[in-house]
Amino acid sequence: MVRFRSVLGGLGIAGLAGAALYWRKNPSACPYGARVFLDLQRPIITTPRLREILAPAPGERLLEVGPGTGYYTIDVARELEPNGILEVIDIQPKMLDRTMNRAHRAGLTNIVPTPGDARMLPYPENHFDGAFLVTVLGEIPLQDQALAELHRVVRHDGRVVVGELFGDPHMVGYSRLIDRAVRLDLQPDERIGGRLGYFARFRVNKPGRVYAGHAEKS
Ligand SMILES: C[S@@+](CC[C@H](N)C(=O)[O-])C[C@H]1O[C@@H](n2cnc3c(N)ncnc32)[C@H](O)[C@@H]1O
Repeated sequence: MVRFRSVLGGLGIAGLAGAALYWRKNPSACPYGARVFLDLQRPIITTPRLREILAPAPGERLLEVGPGTGYYTIDVARELEPNGILEVIDIQPKMLDRTMNRAHRAGLTNIVPTPGDARMLPYPENHFDGAFLVTVLGEIPLQDQALAELHRVVRHDGRVVVGELFGDPHMVGYSRLIDRAVRLDLQPDERIGGRLGYFARFRVNKPGRVYAGHAEKS
């Protein structure tokens, strides 16, 4: 009986390890059915820490990719008031509905939802002062393309913040992220956290260009 139990336990662990490996190799969006997990309180990558590293300021236009149920959205949108806008884009429209319900309950009117794919952002160049995505990057096939899109839509010297947490089968490790980002002219700027979870901030570098606000001068 004891032997049977340990065999069963071993099979369970192997099954979980296999599933985690499969998810890593086959990135895909977190299913809507798993949304309840997105609302759980999480360690390390907390909302105050995101606020600290992103530093959203009144009047800014920011972008959140993959808001899910809006765990970080409300807090950031509130910091942008008055006149600032938080655009949110998610590949699953139902996730956007959850986020917008949350926004409505919080009395916020400065969140603009758009269904879409991080690999083809439907915004013009230099449209945003900054962007963030938390536990999203690893779900996207072709992460380089998504990072390049963020570089395109955020203005020169704007910031991109990436959050990742251990335990997420799609977690992107910090050093892997840095390799990717540097190649795409996203300069590592600051990090909060470590191996178990982190927020990393990058500065968007667009050499040879001069901007005033959102408008390109030359
Ligand atoms: C694990 S959830 C994280 C949600 C939220 N950022 C949070 O931390 O609670 C990942 C979210 O990214 C979205 N997503 C995945 N791939 C995407 C893509 N290619 N473009 C846009 N959104 C995507 C999913 O639909 C989901 O809402």
